[in-house]
Amino acid sequence: MKEKIIIFDTTLRDGEQSPGASLNVYEKLEIARQLAKLKVDVIEAGFPISSPSQFEAVKRIADESDVIIAALARAKEIDIKTAFDALQNAKHPRIHTFSSTSDYHILGKFGDSKYGPTIQEKRKTILKMSYDAVVYAKTFCNDVEFSAEDAGRTDIGYLADVIETAIEAGATTINIPDTTGYTFPSEFGNKILELKKRVKNIDKAIISVHCHNDLGLAVANSLSAIQNGARQVECTINGIGERAGNASLEEIVMALKVRSDINNFYTEIDTSEIYNTSKMVSAFTGIIVQPNKAIVGENAFAHESGIHQDGMLKNRETYEIMSPETVGVNKTKIVLGRHSGRHGLKARLNELGYHPDEKELQKVYEMFLEIADKKKEVFDEDLRALMGDEIFKE
Ligand code: KIV
Ligand code: ZN
Repeated sequence: MKEKIIIFDTTLRDGEQSPGASLNVYEKLEIARQLAKLKVDVIEAGFPISSPSQFEAVKRIADESDVIIAALARAKEIDIKTAFDALQNAKHPRIHTFSSTSDYHILGKFGDSKYGPTIQEKRKTILKMSYDAVVYAKTFCNDVEFSAEDAGRTDIGYLADVIETAIEAGATTINIPDTTGYTFPSEFGNKILELKKRVKNIDKAIISVHCHNDLGLAVANSLSAIQNGARQVECTINGIGERAGNASLEEIVMALKVRSDINNFYTEIDTSEIYNTSKMVSAFTGIIVQPNKAIVGENAFAHESGIHQDGMLKNRETYEIMSPETVGVNKTKIVLGRHSGRHGLKARLNELGYHPDEKELQKVYEMFLEIADKKKEVFDEDLRALMGDEIFKE
C-alpha cells in the first residue's frame, strides 16, 4: 500500500520572505483559497508576531479555511500566544514553533552570555527553551510542530537530543529544515535515517522536512528524506522563498506522481490546479517563473526542434513524460473579448482561481472592457495582470 506524503505549503510564510515579494491581505486570502483548491494538507499562513498585517492575514485565512492552518512562532511565549490569537477561529489550528540548533546559529543568535558562557551551556538553554515552547503551545492546541532551525548543519547528537525533548513535550510534527540548503541528498536522507535510530519515541511524531535551494538541491533533498522516513514536506509554489528559494511544491508532487512506478508514496494534490496556482502566485508576488522551470515554466511543454515536433506529432510520449493537461495547462477555455459579459468574465476568473466580490468584479469588468476594446481576445495573462493590479491593494 502506498503511503501518503503530507504537503505543507509555506508560500504565504517562507515564500513571502522572497526578496521583493510582499503580499497584501487580499492577495494572501486569494492564494489561500487557491491552495485549498489545489488540496494542500497544511497552509502556513504567516508569522503573526512579525507585523499587524501578518497577523491580520493569518486571522482572515484561519477564520474561513477548512484546511489545517499553521502560524509560525519563535520559542517565546509572546510569539506563541500571538500565533494562537490569530488562529483561534481556525477549524484546524497548528502552532509551528522553532529554535536554532546549529552552532552557527547558536553563536550568531545566542551570543549573549545570558544564554550561557559556553556553547555547551547555550545548547542546554536552547534545549530548555524548546521544551518550554512546545509545552506552552500545547496549552492552546493539540497540533504543535517543532522545527530545529539549521538542522542540516546541526551536530547529529545534539539534534537528536532536541528532537527527543520536543517529542517529550508533546510536539506532533518534528521538522528537520535544511535552512541554508547545504546538504547533499544522500547526506540528508541519512540524517533522517539516523534520527529514526537515535530518537526515543520518534514514531509518536510525523517527520517533516523543509529544504532550501541554495545549491539547487531542495527537491532532491526532500525526495531523499521521503525515501528515508519523512512523511511531510514543506514547500512553496514555484519554489519561491528566502535567497534561492524553497523546495518547489509542483516538482515534488509531480516527481512522486510521474515516477509512481518506483516509489511507494502519493499526495492528495489536485495536480490539474498546479498551473493556475503557479500563475496566481507569480502575478501577485511579481516574481516571474523562469521559462525553463520544470512543470510550470512556459517552455516546460514546448517543443521547438523539427525532430522533436515530428516525434511528438506521431506519439506524444516520444518526448513527454507527463501531459500538460495533468498540471492544468491547456484546459479548455472560454474565449473572452469585447462581446463577453460579466458572467463570462466571472466564470473565467473563478476558473483561474480568483473570487472577486461584486464591487471588485465591477471594477475589473470596466478595466477588462478597456482592454477588450483594444484587442481581439483578452488572454488569461491579461486577467491575471488585472487581478494583480493596484486597485486590489488595500
Ligand atoms: O528555513 C527554516 O529553517 C525555516 C524554519 C522557520 C522552519 O523557515
Ligand atoms: Zn525556511
